[in-house]
Amino acid sequence: NKPEVFVLGSFNVDIVSEVVTFPKSGQTVRGKSTHFYAGGKGANQATAAANVNNHVHFTAKVGRDEFYEMAKTYLQSTKINSLSLFEHLSVHTGNAIIIVNTENAENFITINPGANETLTRSEIDSQLDFLKKGRVFLTQLENNFEMTEYALTKAAEFNLQVILNPAPYLPEVRSVLSKIDILTPNETEASDLTGIVVEDINTAKQAALKIHQMGVKKIIITLSHQGVLFFDGNEYLHFPAYKAIPIDTSGAGDAFNGALAGALANGCDIHYAIQYANAFASLAVERKGASNMPSHDWVLNRIQSEPLYRMQR
Ligand code: RIB
Ligand code: NA
Repeated sequence: NKPEVFVLGSFNVDIVSEVVTFPKSGQTVRGKSTHFYAGGKGANQATAAANVNNHVHFTAKVGRDEFYEMAKTYLQSTKINSLSLFEHLSVHTGNAIIIVNTENAENFITINPGANETLTRSEIDSQLDFLKKGRVFLTQLENNFEMTEYALTKAAEFNLQVILNPAPYLPEVRSVLSKIDILTPNETEASDLTGIVVEDINTAKQAALKIHQMGVKKIIITLSHQGVLFFDGNEYLHFPAYKAIPIDTSGAGDAFNGALAGALANGCDIHYAIQYANAFASLAVERKGASNMPSHDWVLNRIQSEPLYRMQR
């Protein structure tokens, strides 16, 4: 049983409150409903990748608290087919407080990473024999950065294709850029990394060039409804967004990254993998819950339903 996609990342319990208007500072607003979902950028990425590729491994860490069973039950219910779930005896399972505005599908998220930030070197070392056999390594920045860096360095040494979603942004990420094959910032993360305010395709091109000069081989800047900008040091390609009726955009980036990793591990070329991930993410935002991912068949339908879809140079 060898992994094709190896995801190292967070598991969070998402406490989601739906509102019609966001509260202002000091204000109390009535919510419409509250849901407890499994989430965390790592778990969301792995869930998405597993809907695309049959050999996804996920490594994560939770606390031994009331959420431990939820994590296990959830992860076993997904198509993730190999799991290393470490436990911390006294630090809580990660959680996220998410407020979703049902009028415009926008959200605010705060995270308390808890056990996600307690990964140890020996836990990562226990994964290395397995990591070695993978094709694509995918991670994010919700774990303690030293261990993200360590795992990422090993994945690069073992010649896996290394994808990093630099979310939530940490300035330390600059130190690992030369090890990254594909970096996938959104507008804000690209702005934080480069100092260029990314707000459209043109500014995304400038930021992508700068990130390439910082040592990253391929850059994919996700621009929500403006689609995706790709730069490989050679050409810029713009992939427009698929038409979607968004109801919950939390997890859209995770959906994109997981689908991208899955498609690349399946042997798709990068252009098709981006198109696929774009369609995948457009379906994910039409579903409530950050970890609620579409199936491969729906993605193919969406790709076929927009035959005029073209990337632009
Ligand atoms: O990207 C969405 C995710 O961010 C949520 O699932 C939440 O847990 C936070 O990690
Ligand atoms: Na969603």
